[in-house]
Amino acid sequence: MESDPLAVFSRWWDDARAAGLQEPSATALATVDAAGRPAVRMVLLKHADADGFVFYTNLKSDKAADLRAHPVASLCFYWNPPGRQVRVTGAVVAVTDAEADAYFASRPYQSRIGAWASQQSQPLTEFAELERAVAATMLRFPLGHVPRPPHWSGFRVVPDTIELWTEKPYRLHERIRYTRTPQGWSAQPLFP
Ligand SMILES: Cc1cc2nc3c(=O)[nH]c(=O)nc-3n(C[C@H](O)[C@H](O)[C@H](O)COP(=O)(O)O)c2cc1C
Repeated sequence: MESDPLAVFSRWWDDARAAGLQEPSATALATVDAAGRPAVRMVLLKHADADGFVFYTNLKSDKAADLRAHPVASLCFYWNPPGRQVRVTGAVVAVTDAEADAYFASRPYQSRIGAWASQQSQPLTEFAELERAVAATMLRFPLGHVPRPPHWSGFRVVPDTIELWTEKPYRLHERIRYTRTPQGWSAQPLFP
């Protein structure tokens, strides 16, 4: 059995990208709001290493409000083929401004404009309202430098459990739950 689930994740993510899957970085992100009500939505994983799993979003979104109320989250990846699932749970911390700036600067111009124009999760009167906001933002930041909006940044899920699931014939799937301990990761196989 592998001792480091993050090393396995890294290999599996590489495999998913090499396999030409449509959205190999897509992951379901589950949060809970102040009242304890759960919500799940897709986000794109932008970075993963020993420190955790990073995604970016609008800080005025519902998910950001949830994370302020309860800074914990769960991620679920599914890659098929080859038939693999990874579940991650842990505390959530904000990425540093420097990290968010560097990633924001790497995004295409239109995506940077969109980050200013979208009031994510707020009511929209008509789709043209978004198009007008995009046009106004392009006038404000003509081609060239678009600074990172103050309401746009990233979060890092710092895993305390990681579950690796591998599809096997006849539903005899392989399932291993890793739990973080002061000594390192402890692995426990589970019935599928
Ligand atoms: C494949 C896919 C990837 C997405 N990636 C992101 C992302 O990285 N960040 C983000 O804020 N929203 C992303 N979204 C949109 C979210 O699923 C969601 O609609 C939006 O963030 C608002 O969620 P909230 O109201 O729960 O905050 C993505 C949607 C899909 C379908």
